[in-house]
Amino acid sequence: MKELEAKVAVVTGGARGIGKAICLTFAGEGADVLVCDIDYEAATKTASEIKDKGFSALPVKLDVSRGDEVRKVFKEIVEEFKRVDILVNNAGITCLTPLEDISEEEWDRVLAINLKGCFLCSQAVMQVMISQEYGKIVNIASLAGKIGGIIVGANYSASKAGVISLTKSFAKKLAPYGVNVNAVCPGQIKTRMTDIWSKEDREKLAKQIPLGRFGEPQDIAEAVLFLASDRAKFITGEVTDVNGGILMD
Ligand SMILES: NC(=O)c1ccc[n+]([C@@H]2O[C@H](COP(=O)([O-])OP(=O)(O)OC[C@H]3O[C@@H](n4cnc5c(N)ncnc54)[C@H](O)[C@@H]3O)[C@@H](O)[C@H]2O)c1
Repeated sequence: MKELEAKVAVVTGGARGIGKAICLTFAGEGADVLVCDIDYEAATKTASEIKDKGFSALPVKLDVSRGDEVRKVFKEIVEEFKRVDILVNNAGITCLTPLEDISEEEWDRVLAINLKGCFLCSQAVMQVMISQEYGKIVNIASLAGKIGGIIVGANYSASKAGVISLTKSFAKKLAPYGVNVNAVCPGQIKTRMTDIWSKEDREKLAKQIPLGRFGEPQDIAEAVLFLASDRAKFITGEVTDVNGGILMD
């Protein structure tokens, strides 16, 4: 029996990187996956890759920072699929600007996608999950949300600290309805987000990771699969580190 047989799963930022690994993993476990991304072309490619493997996926154009668009897309998904079992709030952008130089625009943009986007999508899906008396929300936060930015900007780390807090608020609100809400805090993972760091920074950081390497997107997908499955049904409001041991708390 597959872990997510016939579940309807929405993954934001699903076109590439960690989101793509989550989409592929969920689809392989039997879910109907909605690959939601601001980059529709890339989402279409990822969905085709999944379908070529014989699994189920649909690309969806979605900018998570736009409330009107988020509400419209979730309404259409519920009309089409009649339910949403899993939401993974994964869409995110980074910012490498030093704290003293972060402009107001950069602050707003990062917060709008990383934090407001997580809020808007969770809010848009909560009613259907309440009526189903079933649902799993998994938010992709970050190590930076716990310890502050190392290479990434203060706006990025603050947005991720906000995601951790939002996870607990939604977890408390939705627990009486059988909906689990959890977060995963990735450490340094090999995606486009960290590829833009200098080679020197990457090598220096990798040496500080007890398990001796950056993570792969699949390392995150495995933890997300667990939290999105019924194996984790007594876990809610939890923040799970997947970071090779660089922070043990
Ligand atoms: N890579 C890491 O080391 C790392 C560490 C901690 C947390 N994270 C988090 O993991 C998540 C995925 O990051 P990644 O490393 O795979 O990055 P990535 O840049 O490879 O992928 C991000 C995806 O989000 C999409 N996206 C961007 N803005 C969007 C928007 N407004 N609406 C919808 N989709 C949007 C992009 O098109 C892309 O497909 C992010 O939330 C990131 O903050 C990553």
